[in-house]
Amino acid sequence: MFSKKKIEDQVLVIFGSNGDLARRKLLPAIFQLYTGNFLPANFVVVGAGSQEKDENAYRKDVQAALKEFLPNETAARKESLAVFLKQVYYKKVHNQTTADFEGLRDYLYRLSDQLNIRRNIIYYFSIPPFLYETVAANLVNYGLNTEDDGWKRIIVEKPFGYSYDTAIELDKKLHSGFNEEQIYRIDHYLGKETVQNIMVTRFYNGFFEPIWNRKYIDRVEITAAEKIGVSGRGGYYDSSGAMRDMIQNHLLQVLAVVAMEPPAIFDSDSIRNETVKVLQALRPIKGNEVAQQVIRGQYIATQVGDSMHPGYRQEQGVAPNSKTETFVAIKAFIDNWRWGDVPFYIRTGKHLPARVTEVVIHLKHAPHQLFKQLCLTQPNNMIILRIHPDAGVAIDFGMKIPGAGYKVHNVEMAFKYADLAETKIPEAYERLLLDCMVGDSTLYARADAVKASWKFVDPIIQAWQVNPEIPLYFYECNTWGPHESNHLFGDSHMKWREPND
Ligand code: BG6
Repeated sequence: MFSKKKIEDQVLVIFGSNGDLARRKLLPAIFQLYTGNFLPANFVVVGAGSQEKDENAYRKDVQAALKEFLPNETAARKESLAVFLKQVYYKKVHNQTTADFEGLRDYLYRLSDQLNIRRNIIYYFSIPPFLYETVAANLVNYGLNTEDDGWKRIIVEKPFGYSYDTAIELDKKLHSGFNEEQIYRIDHYLGKETVQNIMVTRFYNGFFEPIWNRKYIDRVEITAAEKIGVSGRGGYYDSSGAMRDMIQNHLLQVLAVVAMEPPAIFDSDSIRNETVKVLQALRPIKGNEVAQQVIRGQYIATQVGDSMHPGYRQEQGVAPNSKTETFVAIKAFIDNWRWGDVPFYIRTGKHLPARVTEVVIHLKHAPHQLFKQLCLTQPNNMIILRIHPDAGVAIDFGMKIPGAGYKVHNVEMAFKYADLAETKIPEAYERLLLDCMVGDSTLYARADAVKASWKFVDPIIQAWQVNPEIPLYFYECNTWGPHESNHLFGDSHMKWREPND
């Protein structure tokens, strides 16, 4: 399931250990790795947080987080939890207090000596982005970045920067204490099994790749729809919006995997060399093209069944006149030989009717439509790469309806991961944490890729800021966003798919 590289003894320090991400994703992922026997014998987690507490109190917090986010109270699990918790430690660290890092250094050194663990350390920045530079500088200040006594790696969460310029600035600052091999920019979409499977589908099989180009593909739709609103994250989201929250990172990374050239060999550099080329080839959308090629929307208060969903502007932490987008749809082009003039439609939104993430490859029609009049559905061959739910791959094509004549109907031939009964699909964070632990950065975003995607989204965000004429469309919760998003197709017969979850 995971990398075969040897996993060395190590320490995982989580900054922001009391936060939502740590509780919801990181601790459950680490515990899953532990129960799956993926962790080395000498391994400890050190929670680093601003709250004053001792190890025992933190162990109770970890236990509570696992109970909430990884519910499964079996006797075996109880037993392994008790052992696992002994490997969990805590050190109070105020991220902006430089002197606290001296205390952290002494604590980590003592712990590694006591437990006889080599000083291989991962620092996970599960903290607000404005603290990344400060924490990195504080680590450097006390030599916690030096590698003579063991390797040191930092995992940086998204958003990596707030714009093209700030991403470059952040990168410079991180590089002043850490080299590129030590920096792991996490994008959990790349950790999703089904995103990696896009590469396998394309490059293992002989029959997909020959048609994977402008000659046979009409358009590509990439959708990440969510049912939930910004619930409780209004403060963060209002200064981010769907473009920075989902498109700049997750969906452009997915696009890069869908559109990349086959690498000559399957290693981190070769793969990332190819994905970055796709991002660099994205045709810039100029300020005066934004209104035609990008549709932004914001959800409004809506009665759905018995419950009233508040509008985005009523969410906690959101400005009452906020123009932040909770929905974006983009028509993008990749200017290279493979994809010349094939539109890539990318869409994401909150409070949509389904929780679905998928990539749909729409193939061109057969050159001569013999059965056009008899077709009960639009003649349209599709390859559907389902990332969530029902993860798998499906092919949609026309079949004759049995009986007299030649009536045609579209049918689907599908593979679902769920059918592999014995196989547990690991959570993205499990996969990515383990990759960092073994020093494999293939599924982490490289600096040049991050820059290239900011280069694409920055002018769009700037156009929205300086040009109030560009509409912000309002949409009701539980709908597929503003119907204007269908105008991107430039053909009144075409519209976005409305997949079920
Ligand atoms: C996060 C975004 O990175 O990804 C969230 O900040 C979003 O707003 C989430 O809900 C979606 O991830 P997933 O794995 O649930 O599709």
